[in-house]
Amino acid sequence: MAKSVFIILTRTLVFFLTFQKCIYSDRVSPNFIYILTDDQDLMLNGLMAMKKSLSLIADKGKFFLNAFVNTPLCCPSRSTILTGMYPHNLGVVNNSLSGNCSSEFWQRHFEPYSVAAILKNKANYTTFYAGKYLNQYGSKFAGGTGHVPKGYDWWIGLKGNSKYYNYTLSVNGTTLPIRNLYLTDLLANYSLSFLNQKSIVDKPFFMMVAPPASHAPFIPPKRYINKFPTVGVVTNPSFNYTPTNKHWLLKMPPRRLPTNITILDNIQRRRLQTLLAVDDMIERIVLQLKKLKIFHKTYVIINSDNGFHIGQFGQPWDKRQPYEADTRVPLIVSGPGVPKRVLEPYPVSSVDIAPTILHLAGVKSPHHMDGRSFKKQLMNKKTAIGFKFVFVEYWGEGGEKTTDNGCPWNYDSNVTGCSINSWCKCQDSRNNTYSCVIDFREELRFKFCRFAETERFYEAYNLSLDPYELRNVFSKMNSKLIRYYNNILNKFKKCSGKTCKTL
Ligand SMILES: *[C@@H]1O[C@H](CO)[C@@H](O)[C@H](O)[C@H]1NC(C)=O
Ligand SMILES: *[C@@H]1O[C@H](CO)[C@@H](O)[C@H](O)[C@H]1NC(C)=O
Ligand SMILES: *[C@@H]1O[C@H](CO)[C@@H](O)[C@H](O)[C@H]1NC(C)=O
Ligand SMILES: *[C@@H]1O[C@H](CO)[C@@H](O)[C@H](O)[C@H]1NC(C)=O
Ligand SMILES: *[C@@H]1O[C@H](CO)[C@@H](O)[C@H](O)[C@H]1NC(C)=O
Ligand SMILES: *[C@@H]1O[C@H](CO)[C@@H](O)[C@H](O)[C@H]1NC(C)=O
Ligand SMILES: *[C@@H]1O[C@H](CO)[C@@H](O)[C@H](O)[C@H]1NC(C)=O
Ligand SMILES: *[C@@H]1O[C@H](CO)[C@@H](O)[C@H](O)[C@H]1NC(C)=O
Ligand SMILES: *[C@@H]1O[C@H](CO)[C@@H](O)[C@H](O)[C@H]1NC(C)=O
Ligand SMILES: *[C@@H]1O[C@H](CO)[C@@H](O)[C@H](O)[C@H]1NC(C)=O
Repeated sequence: MAKSVFIILTRTLVFFLTFQKCIYSDRVSPNFIYILTDDQDLMLNGLMAMKKSLSLIADKGKFFLNAFVNTPLCCPSRSTILTGMYPHNLGVVNNSLSGNCSSEFWQRHFEPYSVAAILKNKANYTTFYAGKYLNQYGSKFAGGTGHVPKGYDWWIGLKGNSKYYNYTLSVNGTTLPIRNLYLTDLLANYSLSFLNQKSIVDKPFFMMVAPPASHAPFIPPKRYINKFPTVGVVTNPSFNYTPTNKHWLLKMPPRRLPTNITILDNIQRRRLQTLLAVDDMIERIVLQLKKLKIFHKTYVIINSDNGFHIGQFGQPWDKRQPYEADTRVPLIVSGPGVPKRVLEPYPVSSVDIAPTILHLAGVKSPHHMDGRSFKKQLMNKKTAIGFKFVFVEYWGEGGEKTTDNGCPWNYDSNVTGCSINSWCKCQDSRNNTYSCVIDFREELRFKFCRFAETERFYEAYNLSLDPYELRNVFSKMNSKLIRYYNNILNKFKKCSGKTCKTL
């Protein structure tokens, strides 16, 4: 009798303690490490150089098969990731100051409400940023390197666009020119210094690390210059495929790539070599988390600001097109409650990252955010296609004197990226301005794009049938369906906050 009471009592006690522990661990705020690479694609095997990260993170979490950016260009895409707002609500339309990239307007109205700043203000997170930020960061007209965005305890911001050697950092607002240290490796060192602080173990933190890889100028660290000797461009079905029914920029001469594409092979190989350093960085960070015994309470997220194409549809190399190579990106998440080794088809996009991180931290997202948390699906063991649209918008760039003198074109300031090195095929134009919706309802995977040209041009792809977007089926769509998608595009283009979330 006494014995069984004892057993009941101990069981109750054990139950109570376990229960307490559950409640307690539920309340422990998780840490976040968000790694943002630059121009890393999914379609061109961009992850093949990140084997260690795949085993440390993807094998311990979810790999999103349908993760998109809302705009395939660095500055607008990064601005969206930081704020959970679509580019049209930020007014950040390109990489120039005049397009609101790191502009005074941005610094005043949006920068103070980044996901890091909200975590800091609402939940007392310690926050860290290291690496490329917004392309105009540090320029004289954007406040110089003395400008430290609100909300970061540690600020190691790269001045300007991606570089690998010979660059300038802002270290907590102090200008630091650096000549010979490989940037990705230096970012790894700063990350470890941050993680080596005593308070890291018991106070929640948010770390964002944005290495320059695999962006131009594609410079690998010396230890990797001989890796992947036989790897060249990915000759997938869209490689050098010259469609007749795509928008004008893709049809401009030369339609096909020349036979000697050594330059493209070199770019692909060197991109992968730069990503090997990112793989090392992620490994060092994760090993440190494990050493400190905090890996289990840390979400590690690997993502990219946009994809990349090399030779797809006969285009040289860039990312400003609406196709999958440019808009679909790696997204891998591990952390507390995330099931292991899951390939997740649920569609998500950059605008959802900030609301999801806040949700995971138990912090309410501000109403002005356009994205939606995908926490529920992240934690779900079952994969789901979802009932959802993904929205992509882009403002074509032009620029004076961006056409090499040796090129025959005279489009003046309406085109850009027309270089002798890439056979004078222009990479962008002002009228390469488009918006797309990708429809994931039910079993669909349908993409509908509208170009804002003088003559409205449309492209539509049945991605479940034609994943490489070789056949524009717009002319086969009936007018009711066209009206339906035009209407959704119009709603997305105007949406803000709640009206985006309900679309
Ligand atoms: C910056 O964005 C704001 C809001 O969209 C807009 O009013 C302003 O004109 C933009 N600035 C520039 C220089 O485009
Ligand atoms: C927030 O963190 C700081 C620095 O670690 C600490 O001094 C402070 O007490 C914390 N504030 C709250 C409200 O927890
Ligand atoms: C940056 O500032 C923080 C305090 O906000 C400090 O703890 C950290 O050591 C500084 N980092 C560097 C690299 O100077
Ligand atoms: C480093 O960058 C500066 C400024 O951009 C440039 O003047 C200098 O030539 C570069 N040095 C090397 C070694 O690349
Ligand atoms: C990173 O830190 C290690 C160890 O302190 C040092 O040997 C290495 O030179 C540093 N690398 C860079 C790029 O700063
Ligand atoms: C191909 O082009 C590269 C430069 O892009 C050049 O070095 C090489 O000699 C060329 N190969 C042939 C076979 O013409
Ligand atoms: C960026 O956008 C602004 C505002 O629309 C425009 O004035 C500027 O020319 C654009 N920059 C480029 C390079 O197209
Ligand atoms: C550039 O575009 C504008 C507006 O579409 C047009 O009026 C102008 O003629 C174009 N310039 C050239 C050189 O094509
Ligand atoms: C787009 O702009 C280019 C360069 O100005 C021009 O040649 C072309 O005709 C325009 N296309 C359309 C469909 O507006
Ligand atoms: C797309 O292709 C799928 C699979 O073949 C087909 O079931 C569906 O009807 C197509 N959708 C459209 C809108 O053409």
